[in-house]
Amino acid sequence: MEPNVFKSFLKSNIFKDRKVLSADWIPNRDLVIRLDDKIQELGQFLAPLLKNEKPPNCIIYGPSGVGKTLIVFTIKNELEEMKPKTNSKFQMVYIKCGEYPTEFGLLYKTCKMLDLGYKGTSKGRYYELIKKHTKDEIVVLIIDEIDKLKNGNEPIFNLTRIPNLSIVGIANKLTFTEDYESRTKSSLCERNILLSPYNALELANILRKREKLSFNKGVLEPGVIPKCAALGAQEHGDARKALDLLKGAGEAAEKTNSNRVTGKHIDIAEDVIDLDIITEAVRNKPRQSQAVLTAIIKLAEEGYKSIQTGDVFSVYEGICKDMGLKVLTQRRISDLISDLDMAGVINARIFYKGRYGRTREIKLLLGKSVLERVKTILQQEELYLPHIG
Ligand SMILES: Nc1ncnc2c1ncn2[C@@H]1O[C@H](COP(=O)(O)OP(=O)(O)O)[C@@H](O)[C@H]1O
Ligand SMILES: [Mg+2]
Repeated sequence: MEPNVFKSFLKSNIFKDRKVLSADWIPNRDLVIRLDDKIQELGQFLAPLLKNEKPPNCIIYGPSGVGKTLIVFTIKNELEEMKPKTNSKFQMVYIKCGEYPTEFGLLYKTCKMLDLGYKGTSKGRYYELIKKHTKDEIVVLIIDEIDKLKNGNEPIFNLTRIPNLSIVGIANKLTFTEDYESRTKSSLCERNILLSPYNALELANILRKREKLSFNKGVLEPGVIPKCAALGAQEHGDARKALDLLKGAGEAAEKTNSNRVTGKHIDIAEDVIDLDIITEAVRNKPRQSQAVLTAIIKLAEEGYKSIQTGDVFSVYEGICKDMGLKVLTQRRISDLISDLDMAGVINARIFYKGRYGRTREIKLLLGKSVLERVKTILQQEELYLPHIG
């Protein structure tokens, strides 16, 4: 028995420094592969800041885990390092738009980050304050997940009109600007940088460069890095996924008091990551969709071998009545079922029932532990009732 429960927590047999493997840790340049040109390019766009000149607006785009946040923070840090040496005045603020996906949210967060002290509800006032603030110093607004901004045309247009403000937008695809007026689009996309996914060898290279810093010597079995890299490559070449798996495998080894990280630990890490993805997906579904899922879970737990759309609908109707929710049409419920199918929560196979037309056979895809977590979420939403009414 350890004399103090925190002793083993503080001293790990596995990790030297686990934060090196987390996505928000910004690695030194020598740990970064392949992005030199892109870092250089972004640096050139933003270099005018050091001469107190406004840089162009730009968009960085590419799928998840390809280094978008990494290159932005690398340049942000290097600029801030140079700032005191150049007598320049500028401020760079980072906003994750997914958390504030409206014009109001974006303005509120911007003013908060700039410490402008206003907490009211007038959008006009927010714009005025930002405008006033940028008279004294250039502001670079880094808007991550800019593609999640709802009705983005207007706020983006307004922000690009502010003389001393530049936007660095980060997005998965450039197509979000299709909804923008052409004047907004051309103002925002003065410069573009596209980042592309990694192959398995590149991912293995990224992981290997961090091995010495993050793990104690010799704890990784030889096959571990290639396997994490291969799984990351399957996931469209996502470095975040590969790093998450490696970190998760280390944690799984730690939990089982193993002194080495093996392939088995990667499997455990994969399950944990899947669990997080599914529970997150369920949590973010609209209430109607959660009600449909609740109906499916109830039927599965009642022992139904083959669940069909009609069965789901009748249980769903009961839940809506209990919860005071509006009952949607069967057609809409069909859409919500497809949606749950896409999210990997259920499998809905269409089959043909002779002259009765098409129906769907629905299977719940959740393993035991995921199902328990999902039920807890539905309970928190007050949807999961232990008995069918
Ligand atoms: N070229 C690279 N070299 C080293 N590490 C990388 C590289 N690209 C991405 N990473 C790492 O992968 C993780 C995800 O990168 P991130 O910049 O957050 O991706 P994105 O913002 O495109 O989703 C981070 O831990 C990051 O440090
Ligand atoms: Mg990112």
